[in-house]
Amino acid sequence: MDTSTSFLGFRLPHPFIAGASPLGFDLDTVKRLEDGGCAAIVIPSLFEEQITLAGTGRIHQRDPLDAEWTAALAHFPGAADYALTPDGYAEHIDRVKRTVAIPVIASLNGTSGTSWLTFSRILEQAGADALELNLYEVVTDLSVPGTAVEHELTSTVSELKRFLKIPIAVKVSPFFSAFGHVARQLDAAGADGIVLFNRFYQPDIDTTTMTPAPRVALSTSADLLLRLRWLAILHGRVRPTLVVTGGVATPDDGIKALLAGADAMQMVSAILKHGPAYFTVMRDGLERWMEQHQFRRLTEMRGLASLKQTVDPAAFERAHYIRTLQSWRA
Ligand SMILES: Cc1cc2nc3c(=O)[nH]c(=O)nc-3n(C[C@H](O)[C@H](O)[C@H](O)COP(=O)(O)O)c2cc1C
Repeated sequence: MDTSTSFLGFRLPHPFIAGASPLGFDLDTVKRLEDGGCAAIVIPSLFEEQITLAGTGRIHQRDPLDAEWTAALAHFPGAADYALTPDGYAEHIDRVKRTVAIPVIASLNGTSGTSWLTFSRILEQAGADALELNLYEVVTDLSVPGTAVEHELTSTVSELKRFLKIPIAVKVSPFFSAFGHVARQLDAAGADGIVLFNRFYQPDIDTTTMTPAPRVALSTSADLLLRLRWLAILHGRVRPTLVVTGGVATPDDGIKALLAGADAMQMVSAILKHGPAYFTVMRDGLERWMEQHQFRRLTEMRGLASLKQTVDPAAFERAHYIRTLQSWRA
């Protein structure tokens, strides 16, 4: 049974990898992930704000000690609140590389592609096998059009591609008016992988204090459906590796993601719940299913439920939308 897959140019024995999360901070845990069958690991993000704060004392080009900005910047963690300093992060990458043999992916997380990107070279020199770029941004400026956001995203990627040798995966939001076009632009900018999708941590409102109440809720299989749709639309139509993150909770979810067209899948919530050995459960489940359905290679099943062979994908999506609404029976 050949479950191997190509991920950012690496050959992995199977498609299940650890996504960015605190699981990547502790060397013992990283080793346990590898022993549990994890095929590659994304180290938790180094944030743009962290890098600029350490380098220039500024966040978003503003001085947190300047009275004009103190209130606006008060919500950001202070330098001491991050688990690692930027230099400590690079050293951590080096230590992780010396601890495990699986590919190690550094993660940079920010909203702009200017001053902090030079730090990516330090991560490359520290031994990172690849870089995941997470451009997490909620655009609240009502005068900024979507095209400007897309331009910033793709120019950041092409700029990075000019001076990095290691592959770059881009972890993105689904909230674009035409995500397919964004994927194509990322492809043209040279992205080696597209990671679908950032989970937006949407704060609730506490009705007692009448203030926002942010919290991290782990995902469930329900989060996968949005990813399945876009995998199915993009499979076979763009060059970058398609990686899913969000809602891969069971072996069945993994199989669905592959059928939709995923090359690899990141897991966080399920591993936080079940522990590192769950990677082996995922792989065993996939192998059993492939055996039952007489597939010998992942390439034989990948994308079977995608829209690659569909003549008019937009009409397909529209028809299914109407049928879904019609299927309701009181
Ligand atoms: C506690 C926690 C910390 C996370 N930290 C990061 C991070 O540093 N960088 C990042 O890009 N994503 C981070 N994520 C998001 C995950 O990488 C992943 O995209 C998300 O949890 C969805 O995948 P899942 O359904 O397998 O949990 C974090 C998630 C959790 C739960």
